[in-house]
Amino acid sequence: MKKKINIGLLGLGSIGSGVYKVLSKHRRDYKRKLGFDVALKKIAVKNKRKKRSVKVPSSLLTTDANSVINDPDVDIVVELIGGIKPAKTLILNAIKNKKHVVTANKELMAMHGKELFDAANKNKVDLYFEASVGGGIPIIKPLKDSLAANKITKIMGIVNGTTNYILSKMSEEGISYKQALSEAQDRGYAEANPQDDVGGGDAASKIAILASIAFNSRVIKDKVFVEGITSITPKDIDYATDMGHVIKLLAIAKHDDDKAEVRVHPTMIKKEHPLASVNGAFNAIFVEGDSVGEVMFFGQGAGSLPTASAVVSDVMEVVKNIKQGVSGKRM
Ligand code: HSE
Repeated sequence: MKKKINIGLLGLGSIGSGVYKVLSKHRRDYKRKLGFDVALKKIAVKNKRKKRSVKVPSSLLTTDANSVINDPDVDIVVELIGGIKPAKTLILNAIKNKKHVVTANKELMAMHGKELFDAANKNKVDLYFEASVGGGIPIIKPLKDSLAANKITKIMGIVNGTTNYILSKMSEEGISYKQALSEAQDRGYAEANPQDDVGGGDAASKIAILASIAFNSRVIKDKVFVEGITSITPKDIDYATDMGHVIKLLAIAKHDDDKAEVRVHPTMIKKEHPLASVNGAFNAIFVEGDSVGEVMFFGQGAGSLPTASAVVSDVMEVVKNIKQGVSGKRM
């Protein structure tokens, strides 16, 4: 068996740059841990000349994403473009080419997860997506594996870093919505189209993914009730503060015997509640299982390096599966 695993990266934005940094920094450690050298082979970008936070050899860059997914030497394709088009076609074609796929694409997983899983199963390759929910917080794997003994009855939390950053800043520092959004964009938390964040769509994708795994059903983004934070005013925040509350954008999924309820909306919560002190780009997710009771997951829900942590850990999981000959079997 060859001892080198080649990665093809689609996208070198905020998360892609983080992945480049993490992989470069720990390459030797990974080799020791995995017994395989994990190397970046090719990176597809829109513009080769763009100024980036990482110095990448130009020989790695290409503007032709198809040349990455069709490269016979590429073992794992890491999709960090986001959105449905062209990410969906690229992933499906990569899978057809027997490449394992790691993605951070919540919208795609929440809308077309079934089609992608079916393709991955058919082609006996892995499809991992830990980074699609909660940035650096491990939540998909714990739900699938560590809490598998439970019937999950409820998931509730803050799953969008941008809106949490905006609401925290408006409430703590009294800055305007516009300024807070612009800061969140500067820090690399927001989506390319921040309407997905502030309108609640990003959180809807994430809770749809979590509900699908937790309730062993298929909840798609379009079925989630969504209200974003665009109509929250400083006055609303002041009223909430006067009443000893904070406003948070919560994503909630509940499962009773025969029905699931999945929603995203701004909620007033008492300032003593553990979610009230989750500020900035941090996310927190409560999971309730019938045996374990309540478990809380907390950490940085957005940002370059935290999200890269989840992406690269997925890559390592795929490498372990390759090593053990169990690719495409652990989903
Ligand atoms: N725009 C997302 C957020 C990025 O703010 O949470 C992480 O998924």
